[in-house]
Order: sequence, then structure tokens, then C-alpha cells
Amino acid sequence: MKLKLTIGKKGDRMMYKIDLGKSGMCVPTVAVGCMRISNMSEKEVSSFIDTALQNGADFFDHADIYGGGMSETVFGKALAPSMRDNIFIQTKCGIRKGMFDFSYEHIINSVNGSLERLSTDYIDVLLLHRPDALMEPEEVARAFDELKTSGKVRHFGVSNQNPYQMQLLQSALDMPLCVNQLQFSVMHAPMIQSGINVNMYNDSAVNRDGGVLDYCRLNKITIQPWSPMQYGFFEGCFIDDEKFPELNKTLEAVGDKYGVSKTTVAFAWILRHPAKMQPVTGTTNLARLADCIKASEIQMTREEWYEIYRAAGNVLP
Ligand SMILES: NC(=O)c1ccc[n+]([C@@H]2O[C@H](COP(=O)([O-])OP(=O)(O)OC[C@H]3O[C@@H](n4cnc5c(N)ncnc54)[C@H](OP(=O)(O)O)[C@@H]3O)[C@@H](O)[C@H]2O)c1
Repeated sequence: MKLKLTIGKKGDRMMYKIDLGKSGMCVPTVAVGCMRISNMSEKEVSSFIDTALQNGADFFDHADIYGGGMSETVFGKALAPSMRDNIFIQTKCGIRKGMFDFSYEHIINSVNGSLERLSTDYIDVLLLHRPDALMEPEEVARAFDELKTSGKVRHFGVSNQNPYQMQLLQSALDMPLCVNQLQFSVMHAPMIQSGINVNMYNDSAVNRDGGVLDYCRLNKITIQPWSPMQYGFFEGCFIDDEKFPELNKTLEAVGDKYGVSKTTVAFAWILRHPAKMQPVTGTTNLARLADCIKASEIQMTREEWYEIYRAAGNVLP
């Protein structure tokens, strides 16, 4: 797997970078998630941003709904205006209470709200958060065109979509979809399981996503794994959870070999996949944040990758 090694913009630390889809942007291999920062003080968020930047991670993931808008607000206050052009900000829209909404009005209003809360006049990447069953591709295209032309949004993508949903939307767009953000971790890997168990009768063979992993690779769309440390749907972090003794033992053994923590190994497992995914951290703990980002420096072997996959309870056919 070839990744570029570049000096972080602040010159703080070497950081591996990837091309974000067909956007032309070269971004860190690990993105920094801001879903859980809404209750932090401005000072704490400032330290959070500094820690990320000192470790070379300058790509931040938001959504209009995180903390009811508070995640964007506190981030916007904590970020020095002079730093805006040194970082990437991604945010999302499309989730409303009790419904999903890809209407022109909702997309435009949501972006305007995010710009205000983030204290910025542009967003680097805008994602549609979850599929809206009532999506009209031409209506989304009208909103995207306007946002692009006005300079409010530079690049676009989706989240939690399957290949046909992406293709349908893409058919109406003038710009490429660069990102699909999807749940993925060593304990949530149906995209891998169905690929390994093609044509088998077991549960792992069930194709739940329409082959989105290969679709994204074929079309140069970056997959951004969300909840990279969780099992289930926000059930908890699998690290040090006694329900997963074999996984923790294996993560520890691989970590000992490289001199890193289990957290770093769990991230490195995602990065080892040749799709060049960009996992999104979720921690608000500064030491753990540094551990997640450090995974960019580890290149685990094929044997270790499969050992961790099996230790997570997966059986090879
Ligand atoms: N597109 C979507 O639909 C979608 C959905 C969910 C999330 N997201 C994005 O993905 C990001 C990550 O999601 P997530 O927050 O669920 O990620 P995560 O990294 O899987 O989970 C983070 C949570 O696990 C805890 N944790 C405990 N031990 C940990 C360890 N050793 N290492 C790391 N975390 C540990 C963290 O607590 P501490 O803070 O105490 O470390 C935090 O509460 C979000 O910030 C958001 O940007 C997107």
C-alpha cells in the first residue's frame, strides 16, 4: 500500500496522507471526529485541536446535529481565525428529528447554520448524513451547485449509502462524490465478512451494503469509517471489554511488537486495508487521540491483519 509521507502544515510531525476521493485534496489518513466534544469547554476544545494538529491531524469531522449544534459552536469559538486555512473542516446535513431531509431548502439552511456556528465562510467537505428515502437527485444537485458556485462548500460526499444510492445521486451531479462515511471497525466489519464469505450459507455471507467497499475502490471514493472503536451500534468500546478477551489479547500482542497501544493497533487494522480508508476518531481523551493518530505509522503484516480479524470472532470459510 503506497501512502504519501508529508510534513504536517504546522510542521509539527510527519503524517501519512491520502488523496480524498477525486477531490484533489491530500488529507491525513486519520480524521478527527467532533461528535462528542459538545460538552467540552472552549479551553478543552482548544487543547483537543492543538493535540490533533501537533500529531499532524488537521482534518476535522462535524455534523449540524452533533450536540444539537454545540459541537460546531464550541469548535468555531476555540479555533483561532488565523488557523482556518490550515485545517480541513467537514460537516454533514440531512438528519432531522424523526426524518431525513435532502430537500434543497434543508441542505442550504443547514450549511448556512454550520457556517455560522463554525465561524467560517467555507466548508471543505459536505456529506449527506443518512439516506433520505424521498431524495430527488436533481434537487440535491441544485443545492450542491449553488453551494459550490458561492464558495460555501468545496467538495461533496455521502454517508451510510449503498452503491446504487450513490450512483443515482451521482447521475445528477456535476462534481464527483468524494467520500462515503460508513460504520466500520474490527468489531463491525460486514463489508469485509461478506466479501470473504461470497456464496456461502452462513450469516457472514449476507451482503448488507451492496458491495460498497469494492464500489468505492473502483470509483475512487474514500471510505471514512465511523465508530472505529465501537461494537454494535454505540454499545461501547471493545478495548479492555471483558466480552472480547481473545481480541484484546491479540491487539495487545501485536501492540507489544510495535511498541504501541491496543487503540493504535485497532486503528492500524483499518488502515492496513488497501482501500486507503480514512477512519474518524471519536475519543475526547487527548492521550487516546494521539494513540489513534499514531496508527498511521504502523504497517501491520497480512498475517497480523487476519489474526486480529479471527480474534474478533470471525471464522474463515
Ligand atoms: N456518519 C455517521 O453516521 C456517523 C455516526 C457516528 C459517528 N460519526 C463520526 O465518527 C466519529 C467517531 O465515532 P465514535 O465517537 O462512535 O468513535 P469511537 O472511537 O468508536 O468511540 C469513541 C468513544 O469510545 C470511548 N473509548 C473508550 N476507550 C477508548 C479507547 N481505548 N480508544 C478510543 N476510544 C475509546 C471514547 O471515550 P473517551 O472520549 O473517554 O476516550 C468515546 O466515548 C464521530 O466523532 C463522528 O465524527 C459519524
